[in-house]
Amino acid sequence: MNNVLGSTTQKVLSVFFAASIAFVMSSAALAQQDTRTPEEKAYQYRGGVFHAMEWKMGQMIQAKIQADKQAFQKHAGDMAYLAGLIDEGFIANSIVEGSKAKPEIWQDREDFSRRANELQQTAAAFAESGDIEGFNPRKFGGDTCGACHRNYKEKDKE
Ligand code: HEC
Repeated sequence: MNNVLGSTTQKVLSVFFAASIAFVMSSAALAQQDTRTPEEKAYQYRGGVFHAMEWKMGQMIQAKIQADKQAFQKHAGDMAYLAGLIDEGFIANSIVEGSKAKPEIWQDREDFSRRANELQQTAAAFAESGDIEGFNPRKFGGDTCGACHRNYKEKDKE
């Protein structure tokens, strides 16, 4: 009996051991392959946040068209949450290749952060009120997204 248990335990242990080795090796391989700098990661991070916001903007408009107040409130709440994630993505010296961020962001960081905060407040107010009629996509986009883009994002080059 002892023997049987013993060998089972050994098997389990050796499988576990092999799995841990494989895990350590694959993490090492991953770490080696990742040649991105922290600045490039920050750029990709904020790109993810902005593209999620773009999606949420579409969902808010969709909810308005369908007069779905509940969905509207959910997506507005998500937008507010996402807006709170913008600021940390703009670490120093992160105008990396592909970035449209303007140096002015770091010259007047307080103003930049204030605009992110304004978007957050505006979206949070819609999440709370569910005021679908009061939601004008062009005005919302212009006052929040556009107001920041005009000062801090390069125009599309082409
Ligand atoms: C506080 C400032 C600020 C606010 C508010 C803001 N953005 Fe941006 N956004 C930027 C900056 C700066 C970039 C460029 C980042 C980069 O390329 O490094 C950007 C990039 C983007 C991108 C990436 C695509 C592209 O053109 O390169 C999308 C999409 C986007 N924003 C959508 C939105 C939407 C939608 C809103 C409003 C719901 C919004 N943004 C609000 C500052 C802002």
